[in-house]
Amino acid sequence: MTMIARKCADIRVDVVDINSARIAAWNSDSLPVFEPGLDALVKGARGKNLFFSTDVEGAIEAADIVFISVNTPTKNYGYGKGSAADLSYVESCARTIAKASKSGKIVVEKSTMPVRTAEVIKTILAASRPDFQVLSNPEFLAEGTAVADLENPDRVLIGGDEDTPEGRAAIDTLASVYARWVSPEKIIKTNLWSSELSKLTANAFLAQRISSINAISALCEATGADVDQVAAAVGADSRVGSRFLKASVGYGGSCFQKDLLNLIYLCEHFNLPEVASYWRGVVDMNAYQKRRFSDMVVESLFRNIRGKRIAIFGFAFKENTNDTRESPAIDICKNFLGENAVLAFYDPKVPEAQIRADLGIEEGDPRAVFCRTPYEAAENSHAIVLLTHWDEFKTLDYAKIKKTMAQPAWIFDGRNCLDHRLLLELGYLVRAIGKGNVS
Ligand code: UDX
Repeated sequence: MTMIARKCADIRVDVVDINSARIAAWNSDSLPVFEPGLDALVKGARGKNLFFSTDVEGAIEAADIVFISVNTPTKNYGYGKGSAADLSYVESCARTIAKASKSGKIVVEKSTMPVRTAEVIKTILAASRPDFQVLSNPEFLAEGTAVADLENPDRVLIGGDEDTPEGRAAIDTLASVYARWVSPEKIIKTNLWSSELSKLTANAFLAQRISSINAISALCEATGADVDQVAAAVGADSRVGSRFLKASVGYGGSCFQKDLLNLIYLCEHFNLPEVASYWRGVVDMNAYQKRRFSDMVVESLFRNIRGKRIAIFGFAFKENTNDTRESPAIDICKNFLGENAVLAFYDPKVPEAQIRADLGIEEGDPRAVFCRTPYEAAENSHAIVLLTHWDEFKTLDYAKIKKTMAQPAWIFDGRNCLDHRLLLELGYLVRAIGKGNVS
């Protein structure tokens, strides 16, 4: 929304939420999310044509286009538990829009929705008045690079009712907003269901690439191959492409797991068990990779980490964000805590309270230490376990760090971002992902 405000000075954008604390944060100097470049963008538009408020109904009534950007978490209760999306926020949004609108509007699904959610929204809106148009306009930005992704997207996808003049006009109206800064050939127009399914499929394909290279990483470790070399050789084929082939401790983030589960649920719902089990394999491989990595740590430390201090470098699900949703660090650290290790955490952006909440660690629990620098975390540790690819980890003084650690000093590089040869020369014992050649 901030990018629309920035690119379209003549359009007023109102961001509304019933959560007043969140709105207050968006109106304050310290925004509720960390995203490189976002601060300047928000502060440049806020109060001019970008407004944050709790006046939900007032903003709906004043708007021509209403975007629904609410959570669609995986259901943790009842029907479809563990795989279906919880649409209760979407439904309640649609009801609020129906109630607050005195004229027909274009209503845009911005959250990632399961296929045919637009039907739910349409049905609720149509019960109040006939002149609403529902569009699907999924967002493809990635966290950490959101501003650049929005400024220069690979594509903008708009799905709508292509079969009626009103539907086509609504698609064109939304397309004209993006056309202020996105070239027309990048604006893809489809029917509603294709748009909804494309978003789930895009995330499933991306997650599948990571699970594919992670599966190969296990084989690399067994055979003496190097997964980065294999990825480079495979990715050099232009049909495969080199991006998104970085082996890791597993993918995290708010989208991949949720959207895959959603896709699997849809396949099951439409009685396509073979398709469901194909995608289930991607999810299973990700869980396997996290387990495999934490087992590697425990086994290397002589199958005993009870009472041993382990430095955790990074807790966010990826670099350049403070987001920990579905972060692989959560499962891996829970495994270590299950072995009664003492964890010394350092992440440049994730607050202590968030780590505590994710791991269920009470204040005063001696199994967790929160550090202000990676040096402090490493002190007296038996091992450094690197879980997030923060740039600053690459340039630390590892010679200095080693002297402060318990010996032998281990490094487990869960992101393959350190110079393993140098670390070996410094006398560390090193294990990494898919590096059959490092030990
Ligand atoms: C993703 C999609 O990229 C984006 O298009 C969609 O809109 C939302 O979901 P995001 O979750 O923000 O974006 O981050 P992304 O960069 O895709 O990384 C997801 C996870 O995969 C991270 O945990 C990351 O560390 C991991 N990853 C990514 C790998 O392990 N290897 C890779 O090669 C790339």
